[in-house]
Amino acid sequence: MATIPTRAIGTTGLAVPELGFGAASLGNLYQPVSDADARATLDAALDAGLRYIDTAPHYGRGLSERRVGEALRLVPDVVVSTKVGRLMDPDPSVTDDTERDGFRSPMPFRMRYDYTHDGILRSHEHSLQRLGLAHVDILYVHDIGGLVHGAEAGRYWEQLTTGGGLRALERLRDEGTIRAFGLGVNEIAVCLDAMREARLDVILLAGRYTLLEQHALDALLPACADAGTSIVVGGPYNSGILATGTKRGGPLHYDYGPPPEDIVARVRGIEAVADRHGVTLPAAALQFVLAHPQVASVIPGLGNPQRVAQTVDLYRESVPADFWAELRRERLVREDAPLPGDAA
Ligand SMILES: NC(=O)c1ccc[n+]([C@@H]2O[C@H](COP(=O)([O-])OP(=O)(O)OC[C@H]3O[C@@H](n4cnc5c(N)ncnc54)[C@H](OP(=O)(O)O)[C@@H]3O)[C@@H](O)[C@H]2O)c1
Repeated sequence: MATIPTRAIGTTGLAVPELGFGAASLGNLYQPVSDADARATLDAALDAGLRYIDTAPHYGRGLSERRVGEALRLVPDVVVSTKVGRLMDPDPSVTDDTERDGFRSPMPFRMRYDYTHDGILRSHEHSLQRLGLAHVDILYVHDIGGLVHGAEAGRYWEQLTTGGGLRALERLRDEGTIRAFGLGVNEIAVCLDAMREARLDVILLAGRYTLLEQHALDALLPACADAGTSIVVGGPYNSGILATGTKRGGPLHYDYGPPPEDIVARVRGIEAVADRHGVTLPAAALQFVLAHPQVASVIPGLGNPQRVAQTVDLYRESVPADFWAELRRERLVREDAPLPGDAA
């Protein structure tokens, strides 16, 4: 088995490999993955040293958790995170492979939000049953905030705060049932709000600290440094465009939809610099976020064994210092963003 250096999760004593595995893909995100392919992908990831796996009840309404647990059950020393906030109620009408909430052929359940004290505890128990594991290491409060909940955001925030959701997570951590908790979200403001309510060990921040955007440098990353809260970077390719670049034919994906023009222009600018230095765009995307000292791990979405092998190569690709210097000079990344090699 290969090894990948580990980094600490807050002050918990838990450490994760700096390259991990985002298992939304294994819930059939946008495209079906067979059970055999899902297993081969996870086995390849574990062999390659990607021994931190992130899943969620939402990913195929339990399908990703089932597949992850099946592959991990007898494998020691793998860190697993899953999420809380969505409960799955049986739904016999889910029988075909229509895409539901972005996932093809989900399990026969319908989703219900519940961030209350009891909802969080129930969600955790259900996840253990689906995973077939006796424990998970990290729980993330999934998609709390206005981006997903719109006008309902206040109601769910009350459930999490005065309704005891955060208290339930603190209890699970205090009694040692889990090692760490935090939020798993695609937005920044709610992270700052939650940090005022509880001591978060780690935040899974998806798409908001990437080679394309660094607003998290303003308030969130400094707050995390003060509080000892780690960041796990989800969606490091902003859901695709930083992996594919702009030059291939076919649709481009940015934050789960088509990219606006200014984003395409920005990626083209980065691509031009990458081409001049012989650098692969997704290698730069992975290595850029790992240069921030608050980032514990980066977890790209991987859907087949070839992607796993390719991703390990990208993570290890040698990227010259001149490339990073030119990105900064051309203002294609923020001046205050730490770059690989800065500290050397
Ligand atoms: N709220 C939350 O907590 C939250 C939100 C979003 C994400 N996350 C976590 O972050 C993980 C990753 O996010 P994500 O999957 O949404 O986005 P992502 O990692 O930014 O992008 C995944 C996309 O990039 C493509 N890709 C990956 N490597 C590639 C390569 N080397 N060349 C070309 N294309 C490549 C994949 O295509 P293929 O399918 O063709 O491989 C897939 O479409 C999730 O699995 C989840 O664990 C959490």
